[in-house]
Amino acid sequence: MFYPTSLLTEMSRIFFEETGWEELADSLNKSDYSNVFVLTDKNTNRFCLPILEAKVNQSLTVLVMEAGEKHKHLHTCSQLWRELSELGADRNALLINLGGGVVTDLGGFVACAYKRGIDFINIPTTLLSMVDASVGGKTGVDLDQLKNQIGIIQEPSFVLVDPVFLKTLPENEFRSGYAEMLKHGLIQDRDYFERLSIYRYDIEHIGKSIYHSICIKSNVVAQDPTEKNLRKILNFGHTLGHAIESYFLDHMNYDRLLHGEAIAIGMIMESELSHKHSGLSSDDRNRIKEVFESIYPKIQLQADDISYIKELLRHDKKNRSGKIRFALLESIGKPVIDQVVSDEAIDDAIAYYLS
Ligand SMILES: NC(=O)c1ccc[n+]([C@@H]2O[C@H](COP(=O)([O-])OP(=O)(O)OC[C@H]3O[C@@H](n4cnc5c(N)ncnc54)[C@H](O)[C@@H]3O)[C@@H](O)[C@H]2O)c1
Ligand SMILES: [Zn+2]
Repeated sequence: MFYPTSLLTEMSRIFFEETGWEELADSLNKSDYSNVFVLTDKNTNRFCLPILEAKVNQSLTVLVMEAGEKHKHLHTCSQLWRELSELGADRNALLINLGGGVVTDLGGFVACAYKRGIDFINIPTTLLSMVDASVGGKTGVDLDQLKNQIGIIQEPSFVLVDPVFLKTLPENEFRSGYAEMLKHGLIQDRDYFERLSIYRYDIEHIGKSIYHSICIKSNVVAQDPTEKNLRKILNFGHTLGHAIESYFLDHMNYDRLLHGEAIAIGMIMESELSHKHSGLSSDDRNRIKEVFESIYPKIQLQADDISYIKELLRHDKKNRSGKIRFALLESIGKPVIDQVVSDEAIDDAIAYYLS
């Protein structure tokens, strides 16, 4: 292991690999939890729970939800709250969320609201949840097609990151998380972006980059936990990316587009917006398109798709006073927030992606 074993800030406690497992064992021994629940989805139940059970010699009560974004909804929460109640979970219960961003986002929210809050620990099992969802304390669920519309910001007791879980993760999911890492390079560190620009599906060596990405995100979050200003830079690619993701979620005739695949498209489009609005050079814009196109499949969008996506944009919760505000780039590594762009510029950005 060639990176530090923990990252401790005022906001969050993140432990890596063996140090994480020691922290978990310590916490279970020392804390007087009345009951330890583990939330999994169908896949992490099969692939990840055996790894957890082999590391913990204590009885765990396992809760299972269906896998996938379409289950990141209040009705799944209600079902889990009911199960926790029926199983006699009290204020001193612990919930361990073992899964990708869906399980950690939803499980975090379930824990925060159950009896006004019980302790929870996140063990992310996808690349995306390791580098992104595990940092920053955002929990929540979708409301209809509006992503993350309901939720609160609350840090878990700690996060345990171990790339061992990635061994069973399908490669397209790995690639999806990789998009967030590329984003970290784009908003803070050009060299890191270039290091990642040649995609490798290499779980043995990904740990160091996971650590670097977590450092970038947690450094941003520490300066602006409630997203008043700086934290908005993490939304680069996400304003258009979220609208595209929601659209595909809503239209079942399309194959599901993964979060990272959607924001990869969003980042290409928003690099064109950056070129027009915030001075991103054409070299940087072209480089961003070239790198993403070499890693992610190109999606064809028809006129109907585009008008629906633009309609979804209007609902974007980050809009203020009816205006859509973007986090853009001045150059690779240098972001700028609160950029208001015209409808025509959005049309041009979509056309740039499709060209
Ligand atoms: N809280 C935040 O700050 C934050 C940040 C980014 C994304 N998110 C949220 O995260 C979600 C996306 O997360 P995700 O990409 O991890 O999706 P996910 O949780 O749906 O996981 C992707 C798929 O991989 C499966 N899986 C998970 N771990 C596995 C493993 N080790 N082996 C085999 N299969 C495994 C899951 O069952 C699922 O089918 C979105 O809802 C997004 O809004 C939250
Ligand atoms: Zn994201």
